[in-house]
Amino acid sequence: GKLEEEVAAMLRVLRVLPPTRELLEDVGPEEVVAIAHQAARDFMEVYVACPAIVPRCMWGARPYRGTPKPLTLPLGSVYIHHTFIPSAPCRTFTACAHAMRFMQRFHQDTRGWDDIGYSFVVGSDGYLYQGRGWHWVGAHTKGYNSKGYGVGYVGNFSATLPDPDTIALVRDGLLPCAVRTGRLHHNYTLRGHRQMGNTDCPGNSLFHEIETWHGFE
Ligand SMILES: *[C@@H]1O[C@H](CO)[C@@H](O)[C@H](O)[C@H]1NC(C)=O
Ligand SMILES: *[C@@H]1O[C@H](CO)[C@@H](O)[C@H](O)[C@H]1NC(C)=O
Repeated sequence: GKLEEEVAAMLRVLRVLPPTRELLEDVGPEEVVAIAHQAARDFMEVYVACPAIVPRCMWGARPYRGTPKPLTLPLGSVYIHHTFIPSAPCRTFTACAHAMRFMQRFHQDTRGWDDIGYSFVVGSDGYLYQGRGWHWVGAHTKGYNSKGYGVGYVGNFSATLPDPDTIALVRDGLLPCAVRTGRLHHNYTLRGHRQMGNTDCPGNSLFHEIETWHGFE
């Protein structure tokens, strides 16, 4: 509410200042209130309700190949993965961006997929990285790609765990944000990749960790 008032007050100031007066002359008082309301919501969604997600342009993604398929939101599931290779958690932006480009190259050139498979990737540098993102069908969990988001931790978590902050980034950050912003059903189910196919992923240690998370089934 406070933010909304501040935005509305600023728009009223801009409406009388010479450089912006002309631009806003057709914007009436009710419209100012509506714009402030929407702006405050957008801001909350991007900067408060959700953790920062490094966009594709920042990690140096290649373009998507072909035409992406849209997801029908909200989704009912989340599948947790580890990348296995790279096997070391990435702890700097440089290392995580490199891991993203490496995985995208591998998924496009060797696997023959349209793009990096994961919806989101989790660095150990404090950031999430955008893979296919909120709106496009991924290639992470065979047979279930339109049912859920695939979230992949960079590293090999068979015998070790991600740092507590990196665990919390998904458990307490990304997932509640996905529910609040209407991308994930409030009653979503969370599963490890190994429950959906013949794989060890997301590693024994990480699998036992996610067994304690909300929505695990
Ligand atoms: C992953 O970790 C397990 C357990 O430490 C180890 O046996 C395996 O060789 C590792 N694999 C890779 C690709 O690093
Ligand atoms: C989740 O909730 C939605 C509506 O709120 C319902 O349609 C759906 O069946 C529920 N799913 C499960 C697994 O309970």
